[in-house]
Amino acid sequence: MLVLGIETSCDETAAAVVEDGRIIRSNVVASQVDLHARFGGVVPELASRKHMERIFPVLDEALEQARVSYRELQGVAVTIGPGLMGALTVGVAAAKALAFSRGLPLVGVNHLLGHIYANFLEHGEIPLPALALVVSGAHSDLILMKEHASYQILGRTRDDAAGEAFDKVARAMGLGYPGGPAIDRLARAGDPYAIPLPRPFAEVDSLDFSFSGIKTAVLRVLHRNPSPDPSFLANLAASFQRVVVETLIEKTMRAARRVSPKAILLAGGVAANSLLREQMAEAVEKLGLPFYRPSPSLCTDNAAMIAACGYYQLRRGERAALTLGAYADLPIS
Ligand code: KG4
Ligand code: ZN
Repeated sequence: MLVLGIETSCDETAAAVVEDGRIIRSNVVASQVDLHARFGGVVPELASRKHMERIFPVLDEALEQARVSYRELQGVAVTIGPGLMGALTVGVAAAKALAFSRGLPLVGVNHLLGHIYANFLEHGEIPLPALALVVSGAHSDLILMKEHASYQILGRTRDDAAGEAFDKVARAMGLGYPGGPAIDRLARAGDPYAIPLPRPFAEVDSLDFSFSGIKTAVLRVLHRNPSPDPSFLANLAASFQRVVVETLIEKTMRAARRVSPKAILLAGGVAANSLLREQMAEAVEKLGLPFYRPSPSLCTDNAAMIAACGYYQLRRGERAALTLGAYADLPIS
């Protein structure tokens, strides 16, 4: 089954053609990073306008690269939330127009489930129930995937998401936007134990996260050191990254002990972080469980993961009406 995926929830205009939820025939991502970088973060109004400009060229490019005509498609899957309302609306409108004009089945995809399905896209079937740590710019969720259509949220962030903390700390350090990749790179040159930082919200019983405290602690360190040299900044990046990664792993292990999953998955933009990938793999190995993570380019926003998730929805007979809407806050159901 050839499914067209469309993703416009934030600052990437993306379209992809995926065969049977597994084979990426094309995966086009038009990033708006340059546009938003000078503002230090995503400007929603600019994002929507850029999506409008790019959506049809990106769709044409995805079909061309896949060597597929619109006639050959068998379904359309589009991100309907959570995300920026105006940005989401552009993708949803395009998907509905396509589905209507070509008589194609349409499904709306939850962006966070899309991130989880990047793992199914790359690795095929995964033993369930699986515990997923979904860490992106706006979410830090521990999700128990019981079956393909059955999920339970075990923990979420109470304030800043992990990616948001990376972005805010990077901005304060003068590293630009997006901050995650910049901190990841800089941390390689630093000592992760050089600067003591509080361990964020490591209290025993909760599976929730909170990253605003560590962000504030880093801002305070910077305030006390107004002209930091490069090695100090590298040490700070490494210390911050270590503490965040340790917290993410500790909570995931705690959740695993509680729910005894058959596999552990990593997903979302922060899953591209080299330290998290490496240390989570080691921690899961100690548990004796299989561990899945997407390739870094499939961790960050893309439409192939949306097409993969949509494929499973279409296969179980889901169909969205042409009244399908976009939802800035969309719970996982
Ligand atoms: O999933 P994503 O591409 O977009 C959202 O759905 O939000 O995640 C973006 C987030 C940003 O906060 C970005 O800084 C972070 O993922 N990120 C990283 C890395 N690459 C992207 N964080 C840490 N290390 C990285 N290598
Ligand atoms: Zn995302």
